[in-house]
Amino acid sequence: MHIVHSISDLRAVLGPLGRPAFVPTMGNLHDGHIALMRRAVQLGEVPVASIFVNRLQFLPHEDFDSYPRTWEADCERLAAAGCQVLFAPREHDLYPEPQTFKVQPDPLLADLLEGQFRPGFFTGVCTVVMKLFCAVFAGKAQGVAVFGQKDYQQLMVVRRMVQQFALPIDIVAAPTERAADGLALSSRNGYLSPAERAQAVQLSQALRALGEAARAAGEALPARLADLEHAARAQLDASGWQTDYLAVRSRRTLQAPQPGDALVVLGAARLGTTRLIDNLEV
Ligand code: PAF
Repeated sequence: MHIVHSISDLRAVLGPLGRPAFVPTMGNLHDGHIALMRRAVQLGEVPVASIFVNRLQFLPHEDFDSYPRTWEADCERLAAAGCQVLFAPREHDLYPEPQTFKVQPDPLLADLLEGQFRPGFFTGVCTVVMKLFCAVFAGKAQGVAVFGQKDYQQLMVVRRMVQQFALPIDIVAAPTERAADGLALSSRNGYLSPAERAQAVQLSQALRALGEAARAAGEALPARLADLEHAARAQLDASGWQTDYLAVRSRRTLQAPQPGDALVVLGAARLGTTRLIDNLEV
């Protein structure tokens, strides 16, 4: 596996090689990331990963400084999964000067759910993803990038960005990897105490129960939506969580569903000091 830090070195390595299949990450890799990498190995000629903890997508009070950095273990896992090129820019490689040009996502998609509770998050994500795409895919007629469904809204925002900017990149979704008890794998699970870890499955259970209630409501769902979401949230909060949202949305728009829409249930909640997100298509 080639490891490169600067954009110019990355381009020099990738230049003579074929179509990249790219997995962007912030490191601290778990089995979910490795599943994305394996998917990339199946899809492209040159499996590429990046590790970069992107300051732009963290709010000032969030965990940018304490975000776990596990460089050596990450390199070993990527190499074993078939990654051919690892792009690990330092801060000055991606942001040699303050990043004053930003990619502003569609507010109808980005200012709700995660965007409501983490204002500016998707601007930070889109800006770095666009920059990573420019670094990895420059000069390539076609490429593919793999994103996890665990970050459902991020996947939709990136897809829309690629579509609107007509980037020659296929965005492939990979299913959420879960622990045996159903907890979605996440780098932030490592923040949980043993007691919190045992309790953490309640978030996916709450999503499943809300999804079943939404399906059972059938045509009455639009009228009953607020009550169902409120009850689901009250139950999770009563178990000791601080819920940001538990929401039933249209898979197509992430807006409140209209009759006949395919549904996704999304949630974000804090257990102690750890904020977890998850979703289920129902
Ligand atoms: O999902 C992530 O890990 C990040 O948001 C991403 C896509 C690597 C951008 O920093």
